[in-house]
Amino acid sequence: MRQQTEAHMAQAQKTSTAAIPNDLAGFWMPFTANRAFKARPRLIARAKDMHYYTPEGRAILDGAAGLWCTNAGHNRDSIVAAIQAQAAELDFAPTFQFGHPRAFELANRIAALAPGDLDSVFFCNSGSEAADTALKIALAYWNARGQAQRVRCVGRERGYHGVGFGGMAVGGLANNRKAFGVMLPGVDHLASTYNREQQAFSRGEPDWGAHLADELERIVALHSDTTIAAVIVEPMAGSTAVLPAPKGYLQRLRAICDKYGILLIFDEVITGFGRLGHAFAAERYGVVPDMITFAKGVTSGSVPMGGVIVRKEIHDAFMHGPEHVVEFFHGYTYSAHPLACAAGLAALDLYRDEDLFARAKKIEPAWYDAAMSLKGLPNVLDIRCVGLTAGIDLASKPDAVGKRGYEAMERGFHDESIMFRIVGDSIAVTPPLIVSESQIGEIFDKVGRVIKALA
Ligand SMILES: Cc1ncc(COP(=O)(O)O)c(C=O)c1O
Repeated sequence: MRQQTEAHMAQAQKTSTAAIPNDLAGFWMPFTANRAFKARPRLIARAKDMHYYTPEGRAILDGAAGLWCTNAGHNRDSIVAAIQAQAAELDFAPTFQFGHPRAFELANRIAALAPGDLDSVFFCNSGSEAADTALKIALAYWNARGQAQRVRCVGRERGYHGVGFGGMAVGGLANNRKAFGVMLPGVDHLASTYNREQQAFSRGEPDWGAHLADELERIVALHSDTTIAAVIVEPMAGSTAVLPAPKGYLQRLRAICDKYGILLIFDEVITGFGRLGHAFAAERYGVVPDMITFAKGVTSGSVPMGGVIVRKEIHDAFMHGPEHVVEFFHGYTYSAHPLACAAGLAALDLYRDEDLFARAKKIEPAWYDAAMSLKGLPNVLDIRCVGLTAGIDLASKPDAVGKRGYEAMERGFHDESIMFRIVGDSIAVTPPLIVSESQIGEIFDKVGRVIKALA
């Protein structure tokens, strides 16, 4: 493992080139308690490897890989250099009817990491766009196959597939849905795989819950198999504070999809690029889905990029008709943006050269031990972990759901100099894959002190 040298730290601690803003009003922040943030901001100015630095130069240990994305660590020299060189050489090239070499190179590299015959990559710019793109590919695929009645999409309760109308509709987080009306018609949901009574304090995939995949049989019975286009699930639901798939669940879902010819989409926006110890979680579970969505880790978070990896048969179903005609009426101006492609290639090189996916797998037992050491602390109701992720549920205050979680995040940043993610009253810890064993200890020491200090 690369040493995080003093020179690097010193470089990162230099004063930021960005002026500290004295007016925070103009930026309506996403998924943020804006008023609370602006009353007591958590500003970040620089980063290097495992650390963020505040504008004043205080080091913050990154226990969240930013937002589950900087898997190779922050501001890695080779990624920075690749982005700089690309910006100087080719700032933008359209990928509608034109192309640039690195887009093809990166697509092939990503496809080579994917299981089975998932051979084609459709690029977009985020996980939300990836989810919507995958759903649109599913619908258009059935249309191309002469089964245009297959229009229903099935998601899962507590699932997260981003904030586009498609992803939101198949997603199962009530707060993300309730203000937005009916969204997509023809959507159904599997039950969440989480049951605290049966699964509390599981290390890795829980033993209980494979049978919940059979819910798909119920949905098929209700709507008929001939109307269902696709099922989309995360192999590990991250945004709802780490819900690992029960042992055997994903295999069972695959079998039922095969039985009825339904497409299976794995949303690997979080689990892709090493988070569960493999390039894709599909490999961990020995399941080949029909499509995999990815984003975040593909560039180690350095430039926005997302995409969908598609089985050959699905891609080929579109390749009909006159050759001058566009086969799939979908895409984004910035699909396969040159800077993202350069960053993606450099990130994949780093993952390979430092064997970071295997490293994540190797340190998994130490990670689980450290996470479970928090069992028994006040208000800790459950701890779940799989790969390099841990979710810690705290009891909610009776009169203020989410307040204890918010206080944990504030204490983490201001008192303990650590960043982690909160979802309501749950804490999610998901560091870059370069985290050292001593930093694992440091992360859970800090989180433990935060939990003890909470009212
Ligand atoms: C599984 C999954 N899908 C989609 C998304 C949305 O990604 P983005 O925020 O890049 O749109 C996320 C974000 O966390 C995610 O976890």
